[in-house]
Amino acid sequence: MYTAEMLESIKKVEATRDARLAKVMAGENPRRMTAEEKDAVLAAFHPDHIKSQFAELQIGPNKGEKVPLELAEILQANSRIKPSEIDLSRTDIETDVLIIGGGGAGSAAAIMADENGAKVTIVTKLRHGDANTMMAEGGIQAADKPNDSPAQHYLDVMGGGHFKNVPELVYKLVHDGPECIQWLNNLGVMFDKEEDGTMVTTHGGGTSRKRMHAAKDYSGAEIMRVLRDEVQNRNIPVVDFTAAIELIKDEKGRATGAVLMNMETKEILIARAKTVIIATGGAGRMHYQGFPTSNHYGATADGLVLAYRAGAPLLYAYTLQYHPTGVAYPSQIFGALVTEKVRSIGAQLINSEGEAFMNPLETRDVSAASIIRECKERGKGVATPDGGFGIWLDSPMIEKLHGEGTIEKRIPAMMRMYLKYGIDMRKQPILIYPTLHYQNGGIKIGANGMSDVENLFVAGEAVGGIHGENRLMGNSLLDIIVFGRNAGINAAKAAKEIDKLGKPTLKHVKDFAAEQKAAGIKTDKQSPILLPRYTHGNPRFEAK
Ligand code: FUM
Repeated sequence: MYTAEMLESIKKVEATRDARLAKVMAGENPRRMTAEEKDAVLAAFHPDHIKSQFAELQIGPNKGEKVPLELAEILQANSRIKPSEIDLSRTDIETDVLIIGGGGAGSAAAIMADENGAKVTIVTKLRHGDANTMMAEGGIQAADKPNDSPAQHYLDVMGGGHFKNVPELVYKLVHDGPECIQWLNNLGVMFDKEEDGTMVTTHGGGTSRKRMHAAKDYSGAEIMRVLRDEVQNRNIPVVDFTAAIELIKDEKGRATGAVLMNMETKEILIARAKTVIIATGGAGRMHYQGFPTSNHYGATADGLVLAYRAGAPLLYAYTLQYHPTGVAYPSQIFGALVTEKVRSIGAQLINSEGEAFMNPLETRDVSAASIIRECKERGKGVATPDGGFGIWLDSPMIEKLHGEGTIEKRIPAMMRMYLKYGIDMRKQPILIYPTLHYQNGGIKIGANGMSDVENLFVAGEAVGGIHGENRLMGNSLLDIIVFGRNAGINAAKAAKEIDKLGKPTLKHVKDFAAEQKAAGIKTDKQSPILLPRYTHGNPRFEAK
């Protein structure tokens, strides 16, 4: 149900709708911005450009570089363990490849490591599949249509990422894309298809070809369903509710396991492995700059903390993605994702005055910054009862452009989410504002998926560099599959080279603490934080 003020603004949206539709049908969406216009709006309004929200790291491999304040705090925090109290002579789990994280990247890695003959174990702090993969909506890119090519995809990814992307990683992403779609299709993912079996593909922001493959608007849940089944079918052990809280290295500095903590009992366990894969996902639950998030409950940057303390450098940890269309209203679903697919199938972004102020398919960083500008500088946002603002996403345009029933067919989950709150997006526009969605930066890897710490591999959102400073829609589901599989294959190969596990050590944890002390950092924070804290200090709800 909308407020009276919102309903007044909706009248203005409706008043301009027919004229806007006529223009779209004539192929005239609002024009794309020039490169100079994009740079200007990003510099003035994108949260990544607010200098006061970043701090310089004082210790660790990225010393001297700026990262978000909240990330700096946990990267430089205390370990959850005292190394001297950890009994490294015990082994609770012994495996060839230890995978930390039970989302899409970890599962894809597990399947391929198993396929390549390794004994694999997944440990995950929540349950298998509780991850951002599950929440991905719009789709997965891959250049597999006759009018497309990996080269074309490469150019889009590089352009979207402001040419900061690591070329060899982008090459791998786009080159392996079509094969990965086939792999998923063969495993049983129910992609949207035409009657003749060809895949339905659409545009996303910044794509020059229609290459977004989807399973309606729950693409990630469908992919996760199939990956989880495959892990189970292969009898790969998954240890639920068990978090990695430090990595273990051997006397040669190679990753060789992890200190684990049972999330319920807090019991400490030791996992020993020949190689380790970090697939812990993103950081939306860090709520950088106070933004709400579209992310899963477990997205707290754990992998970055573990790797950083073990000496693995991060790449572009200063860059985050604010998805342009998070829910601004109703407050019960504040920050939840409104898939970009809503725009890609025809909804325009409209300000409080009923004006289409930008092309709906600008890249995400430019779109988010433009929406913030519209609200903060131009005063054309729509006020919400919580003191925030939003911009209309004119969803009724979709059915006018593509026919009645399109919304239920193409974005049924979105439609139902709003119906629960008395809003029928087929008839009324929906109110959106940017929400923290993705960690563009992360742990630096090479093309084989290995970080700068030997035998420590990384896959999925914990990796930095694939997407440069801005990821395009649908390239995250693709990257978890491409780089998950890649890490699994290479971690299994590396494990075969090791006959015997080395001597376990936590010296890196001690060294990090010494560095912290020498730098004069005083903190009572412990990391990885594992779960977000929403209790506002209320002792009734605080974990003991
Ligand atoms: O808008 C979306 O559906 C999100 C997709 C993505 O982040 O790749």
